[in-house]
Parts: sequence; structure tokens; C-alpha cells
Amino acid sequence: MADVDIVRGVVTAATRAPSVHNTQPWRFVAHDDVIELRDDPSRALPVIDPDGRDRLLSCGAALGLARIAAAGLGTGTRVELLPDPADREHLADLHLVGAHEPSPTERSLAAAIEVRHTERGEFEDASAVPAEDVQALAEAVQDEGSWLRVVGPDDAAAVAVLLARADDVQSADPAYREELRQWTGRGEDSADGVPAAAVPATPPQERGSSYRLRDFDADREEAGPHWSGEPPRPEHPLVVVLGTADDDPAAWLSAGQALGRLLLTATVRGLVASPMSQALEVPDTRAHLTRELGLVGHPQLVLRIGRAVEGSSSRSGHAHRRPVDEVLEIR
Ligand SMILES: Cc1cc2nc3c(=O)[nH]c(=O)nc-3n(C[C@H](O)[C@H](O)[C@H](O)COP(=O)(O)O)c2cc1C
Repeated sequence: MADVDIVRGVVTAATRAPSVHNTQPWRFVAHDDVIELRDDPSRALPVIDPDGRDRLLSCGAALGLARIAAAGLGTGTRVELLPDPADREHLADLHLVGAHEPSPTERSLAAAIEVRHTERGEFEDASAVPAEDVQALAEAVQDEGSWLRVVGPDDAAAVAVLLARADDVQSADPAYREELRQWTGRGEDSADGVPAAAVPATPPQERGSSYRLRDFDADREEAGPHWSGEPPRPEHPLVVVLGTADDDPAAWLSAGQALGRLLLTATVRGLVASPMSQALEVPDTRAHLTRELGLVGHPQLVLRIGRAVEGSSSRSGHAHRRPVDEVLEIR
């Protein structure tokens, strides 16, 4: 059996991963020199994620963070995805393969695990992100077998329209609002779900951004007037699409690992990010986005990445995690 402190350290870091609606849809079973990553379908979101794609992206991100944390703790790893075709909940085996001297990059990525968070406040314009940072983000994703497409000025209108269309489709569905209600508006001490304090008080419709963000207030009746008085500051953030060649559970787990490395690379470079997954949860807008951007392959996540506008942080609140003993079984 691997060192229990290492196992707990690795799993604790894995649970810091982003997950759709902070559902944390994972379980871990440690035995011998292996940490099994298991799906927890009891935490599924059947309305927005009927095929479990967002859920496996989330689990893949946890796996990615587990690998980086293990490296940072001086332990090498080897991953086997979907090792048991007869057991679909058995998503991966993380083999701990002995001592490993972490590189400076691995050390800084591991240190970023505790710092990374989803930022839903205002972002500086895309021009505030240096080209070398964009290159580093693309390489982080490529290292994990996925690709990153930057949404350029020619694509921006199509992406904005599709995000808004997906939000309209989802928000008009009472089942969507009910599912959202179950996982949002939580108090500061909730161990899962999205706390109210992690979401800006300004409704997405009143922001100065053409990219519509998910409205986490499931009970908002009416958008009302978009703004009164001074118009909001216009926002033109950097938007990227993370994608894969294939579109199956193995590809979703790979994309999740790429997402983990992408977000930690951004954090190390002083950037923040927020996923905008709605346009890819509605099949029609996902197909349009693939076509409009001429993507070769399958988009898995759309994200804003950039520098947070000073003083606009959404982070008066923090999305908590379940205690590690709730998700880790040591045999
Ligand atoms: C697959 C996936 C989809 C997500 N979609 C959205 C989204 O549409 N809007 C949003 O604000 N956050 C989105 N998130 C971010 C989660 O809400 C966030 O990771 C979770 O609440 C935990 O918070 P943290 O990232 O600050 O640790 C998504 C995350 C994942 C992994």
C-alpha cells in the first residue's frame, strides 16, 4: 500500500478541481499502489448533462490535479483510463510509481492548486493577456492531447449569439431552473454546490459583456431593464474553446485533465478563468459552434480567461469541498 499521507494529499488536491455546479461527482478508492477514480452518478445533472459529458470533464480535471499534486509531492504516476470495460463507473487508475524529482513547472502548478478558483467578475480586455501566456495555455492543453482555439474578432459575434441562445433555451425550461436551484444559492458553509457569494450580485443581463454568463439565480423572474443610469463598462475578454478529436468518455476525461492543466497554468501566470459551458450543453448550439468556428473535432468547454478587473472580483465567497474522508476509501 502506498504511503497514506501521500494518498490523502493527492486526493485532497484532486477534490480542489472545478466541477460543473460544484457537484464534485467523484469517489476515490486507494489500494496497493493505485488510486481508483470513480464516477458518482448520484451527483449527475440529468437536465443539462444527460450523457454525463460535463461530469466526466469534472472527474478528468480531478485526475489531472491528482497527477500534478503527486508530482509536486515527489511521486511519479501512470494513468490508465477506463481500465474495466465491464464497470463504467471505474474511470481511471492512477498508479503511484515511486520517487520523482518534480520540475520547477510541476512545483509551481502544484502550488497553484489551492489558489485557483472560478472568477465570475469582470475581466480586462483580451489585449491584456500577453501572446506568450496564450501560447503557454495552448501548450498546456496540447500536452494533454487536447486543443485550444482562441475566439478571434471574426468569431466573437457567433460565439456571443450562441451563448445567449443556449442560455435562453435552458432558462425557459422549468426543469433546468429546478436543477439549478438544487445546486446554487447555497450558504457559505455548504460543502458542495455554488454558494451565492461566489456569484456577482449584478445579473448577467446587466453586464457590459456580449458574452452571456450563466445566471445562477434560478428564481430571477424577469431580466428587467438591462441597465439604468450609466451604461456598464464594456468587456471584451479573451475567450477560448477547449476541444478534442474524439467525443466519448475517454476524450471527456482527457479534456478534463487538459482543463486542470490549463487552469493551473493560467493561475501561475496571474490569470483567472471562468467556464461558460451552456452553449455546449444544448446540442443545437454545440453543433452550430462547431460549424461557425470551423472546428476540426469536438468542442468540450468554452472559457473566459484573463486578468480580473481590480475590485470586481466575485470572490467574496468560496466554493467549498466535501471532506476528503467522504470521498476517499482506503482498502
Ligand atoms: C464542466 C464544467 C462546466 C462549468 N460550467 C460553468 C458555467 O457555465 N458557468 C460558471 O460560472 N461556472 C462553470 N463551471 C465552474 C464551476 O461552477 C466551479 O468549478 C465550481 O463551482 C467550483 O468552484 P471553483 O472552480 O471556484 O473551485 C464549470 C465547471 C466545469 C468543470
